Amino acid sequence: MRPLVAGNWKMNGLTASLAELASLKEGLAVLGPRLGCDVLVCPPASLIAQAAAAAAGAFALGGQDCHPKGSGAHTGDISAEMLKDAGASFVIVGHSERRQHHGESDGDVAAKAQAAWRAGLKAIICIGETEAQRHAGDANDNCGRQLEGSVPGGASAANTVIAYEPVWAIGTGKIPTAADITAMHDHIRSSLVRRLGEGARGMPILYGGSVKPDNAGEILNLPEVGGALVGGASLKAIDFLSIITAISAS
Ligand code: PGA
Repeated sequence: MRPLVAGNWKMNGLTASLAELASLKEGLAVLGPRLGCDVLVCPPASLIAQAAAAAAGAFALGGQDCHPKGSGAHTGDISAEMLKDAGASFVIVGHSERRQHHGESDGDVAAKAQAAWRAGLKAIICIGETEAQRHAGDANDNCGRQLEGSVPGGASAANTVIAYEPVWAIGTGKIPTAADITAMHDHIRSSLVRRLGEGARGMPILYGGSVKPDNAGEILNLPEVGGALVGGASLKAIDFLSIITAISAS
């Protein structure tokens, strides 16, 4: 399984930020055959088409959310088909910021994952516990419930990536211990295999939450960690490239 390092720009990025993508492309070219992972950038939807031209196949592009429907009277929303048309091949669904600030339920997330597949995109389905849930010893049960509700039955290694992102680790500089990340990734893997069968062994499980150049090597080398979903540190090509290099060196 080739690891995936994905950048989530969130609501950041104007046309000027395309220069970062040009630098990323240059850095990837320098790595050449030493590049040990697939690379994905999820910029704001407004930049996907221009980013696709800048990437010229050097890295993949993704959306950060999509509507379950393909088109219609949904002012302000974007469909998976539109993302695909703009040049995306992935879409993040169920990010904790969508779940928290837009009230998205597991059922909503599952519908979005199915929309992604319908459009020919891979869905990156995010799950993760809050700090209170972790302290209450409810992290495993919470993530198990989210997997059950957010990952549709048709999920396979070909159409789905799971991102484990503890809510309390996102944008905070705090990360779980290596033992806690390993235990959660094992738990996610066994839940997926139980539900979807042996084929789910090939489904990448990314870790996300405060992945930075200085901790990427340790996190990305843990067993069952199939890559990273990177927020803040993906905005600057130099930081994102050092995370990519950490995995390439492993
Ligand atoms: P962060 O965000 O790397 O800035 O913590 C990760 C994410 O929200 O995907």
